[in-house]
Amino acid sequence: MQNGTAIQLLGLQKRYGVLTAVQSLDFSVQRGEIFSLLGPNGAGKSTTIAMLSCLLSPTGGDARLMGHSIQSDPRAVKSMIGVVPQEIAMYEDLSGRQNLLFWGRMVGLRGDRLKRRIDETLDLVELTDRQHDCAGHYSGGMQRRLNIAIALLHEPQIVILDEPTVGIDPQSRRKILDGVKELNRRGVTILYTTHYMEEAQELSHRIAILDHGRLIAQGTHAELVKMVGGQSRIRLTLSRKPAGLLAMWRTLPGVHSVSEENGAASLLVKDSTLVLPTLFESAARANVQVNAMELQEPDLEAVFLHLTGKALRD
Ligand SMILES: Nc1ncnc2c1ncn2[C@@H]1O[C@H](COP(=O)(O)OP(=O)(O)O)[C@@H](O)[C@H]1O
Ligand SMILES: [Mg+2]
Repeated sequence: MQNGTAIQLLGLQKRYGVLTAVQSLDFSVQRGEIFSLLGPNGAGKSTTIAMLSCLLSPTGGDARLMGHSIQSDPRAVKSMIGVVPQEIAMYEDLSGRQNLLFWGRMVGLRGDRLKRRIDETLDLVELTDRQHDCAGHYSGGMQRRLNIAIALLHEPQIVILDEPTVGIDPQSRRKILDGVKELNRRGVTILYTTHYMEEAQELSHRIAILDHGRLIAQGTHAELVKMVGGQSRIRLTLSRKPAGLLAMWRTLPGVHSVSEENGAASLLVKDSTLVLPTLFESAARANVQVNAMELQEPDLEAVFLHLTGKALRD
């Protein structure tokens, strides 16, 4: 990893009327790092990204990208970042290559350099063989990859991707994750947002967990998982929504937290072998069947549950 700070947030804040979407964020991303912002929907990831990309003015604080302030030097900031927004933006009636030609000229590329950059970015996102097809006929995943190629044309030192794998096929998802790693191997600093903890875990050197616009934890995967100590996570799929049962489970000794999602209960417990018999007994007494049980090693989901008392998934 190269030395120095690539991105530094200094009390960055965004208020919408009474709602504070982003609450005074302070964290930094080192050069050469893949850094993930992990958080559920509505956590403030896109708002943070929009401010770092100079598309949205903060209501407080500042951020520096390669030393340049988003408040006082947005032009310099924009020249060194490539942003892949959550919403896909392209001309659907142009081919992939024509889109890249258009957007490349928009950022001042011409001639051989433009051609070379188009070939390189198409290769990185694996769209070379489909470059002459109409972008409107691409699958969602291919459109997302074209958007990534567009963001890379001007060889940015920092690439910011906002949930680039949501709603796309597994093959495109794989290509995007591999492309991000390859970019990083070439020295590009990556800021990646996601609500999938598996992606944050696979990609990141470090992770910041965001909830309700607030940074609730940051560190390497190993450091974060250490926060839940020796606890494990149990997921029980229940036959019906159990009135009172979950509330009772919360009061059991050795149970740290209980959350419910789509008929399944997630529990963070100290020692599963001690707690499980009680859980099954009390479920039986309440006439609730346990249809499935999963026992998981401490992971980022457990960290989130530990810190917020709720599940990371929607
Ligand atoms: N333009 C806006 N006006 C009012 N509230 C907004 C606006 N944009 C986002 N929000 C709110 O700010 C919060 C954070 O949103 P967002 O940054 O999109 O979260 P995420 O990207 O993590 O899902 C949400 O509660 C959202 O409803
Ligand atoms: Mg978002």
